Parts: sequence; C-alpha cells; structure tokens
Amino acid sequence: MAIKGGASLNRPLIAGNWKMNGLAVSLAELRALKERLGQNPVPEVDVMVCPPATLLAQARYFLTGSTILLGAQDCHPLPSGAHTGDISAEMLADAGASAIIVGHSERRIDHGETDALVSAKARAAYRAGLTAIICVGETGEERKDGQTLEVVRRQLQRSLPNEARAGNSVIAYEPVWAIGTGVTPTPADVAELHGFIRAELGRLLGEGQASGVRILYGGSVKPANARELLVVPEVNGALVGGASLKAADFYAIVSAYAGRGGG
Ligand code: PGA
Repeated sequence: MAIKGGASLNRPLIAGNWKMNGLAVSLAELRALKERLGQNPVPEVDVMVCPPATLLAQARYFLTGSTILLGAQDCHPLPSGAHTGDISAEMLADAGASAIIVGHSERRIDHGETDALVSAKARAAYRAGLTAIICVGETGEERKDGQTLEVVRRQLQRSLPNEARAGNSVIAYEPVWAIGTGVTPTPADVAELHGFIRAELGRLLGEGQASGVRILYGGSVKPANARELLVVPEVNGALVGGASLKAADFYAIVSAYAGRGGG
C-alpha cells in the first residue's frame, strides 16, 4: 500500500531512517514512540519509521493499532531471482513497508549506485505498490564548486522514472555535507533548493503532479533546529537519521512541525 502522496502537501511527512542501526531490543523505542503519539497525537503529520529490513516484520507487529507508517531503506530492482543477499520491493511490501528510500547518498557513495539504478529501484517500489522516497543532494565539494543546482537537476532528471506521480513519489533533498555532521544549510538555502526542486518537478512531471509531490529536507535535523527548517516554504517534512533512533527526539521533531515545541 502506497502512503498518501497526492494532494497531501498539507500533511507533512516526517520519516525516520534508522540506517544500519537497530536490534530487536531497539523496538522498545518504536513502542515508546507509539505510546507518545497515542497519548499526545499529532494528527496533522504523517509519521514513518524506516528500520533495517531485519526488523520490519517485528516492527509491523509492534505498530499494530498505531498510525505510524513503516518504510524500508533500499530494494533490488527485480521482484525475485538469483540475487544473493538482496531484497525486493515485493518482499518489503510483504513485510509491512509502505515506502522505500531509494538513492540515499550513502548508497550512491558506498555502493556506487547510479541515477539509472536509483530510477530502476523507484520503479520497483511502484511495481510493488509502494511509495518511492527518492533522495537527491550535492556533496560539499560540489557546493563549493557552485554545482549544487546542476547536480540536483541532473539527479532529478535521471533518478525519477517517467511513472513518477504525486501519489507514488516523495523527494528528499539531502545535502551530503549536512548528513550526520550537525551542520545544516540556512533556511534561505533550503528554501532556494526546495523551490528549485519544485520547479524542476514541474518540468519533468507537469505542474499538476509536481504540485502534489512532497519534498522533504534531510541532513542533521534535530529537535533544536526542526522548527526553523520545517517552516521553510516548500518543505513538506523531513527525513531524519540519527535523531530518529530515540523516541523522545523523534517525537520532539514531529511535534515541532506541528508548532508545539521542539526548539
Ligand atoms: P542525519 O541523516 O539526520 O543523521 O543527518 C539524515 C539522512 O541521511 O537521511
């Protein structure tokens, strides 16, 4: 089941990317998040957690009765076959995911993933009925060289399948130099990039679809900076790494978006 995408810009998405973190014991954090959101709901925000694939099925069980969505972190482009160690989008859907992060810079860098592969993975997510959270963003070096817009444009052009629609895709703008560093772009920089991405989406998908695609900001989002980053125009939510591992921090970010504190 794809997450609600189209016509949902008024419903921000805050997605937690656990990366290669989390053992069965970490599900206590998920339980704590569920309890907090149960006691103090933030109904205007879609909340998603993307644990490692090993925890998806258990996480689904833990989240029974909760509005928290489950996402996965990567997939193979094909539905099944002789690909030792890989996991297909269909398997992730079967385990309870409603979305898959594709094209994260850590995969682009660690595994040499190309835009073409990212596009194939996004298509795999659609095929399985899931939402693709497609990540783009420049490195620090590219920013220094004044190539930011060019890099993001090229990644969007090549990583977004023709089948991308408001209902099946979310874009995450994640400047690589801001990921895990504690350094963030200024709100003005974020506004510029998100506006640019919205305009590019218009050229690629047509205004009708482009206006409904949620564009998340990612890179060192914390309770203390969440509000200033999330109120920027064209920011429709956040992709949160390190600060999503603790229920208290992640809940603070979710509630910050709703204007209820968090810094
Ligand atoms: P970070 O990671 O919040 O730890 O910087 C963000 C991401 O990579 O999605």
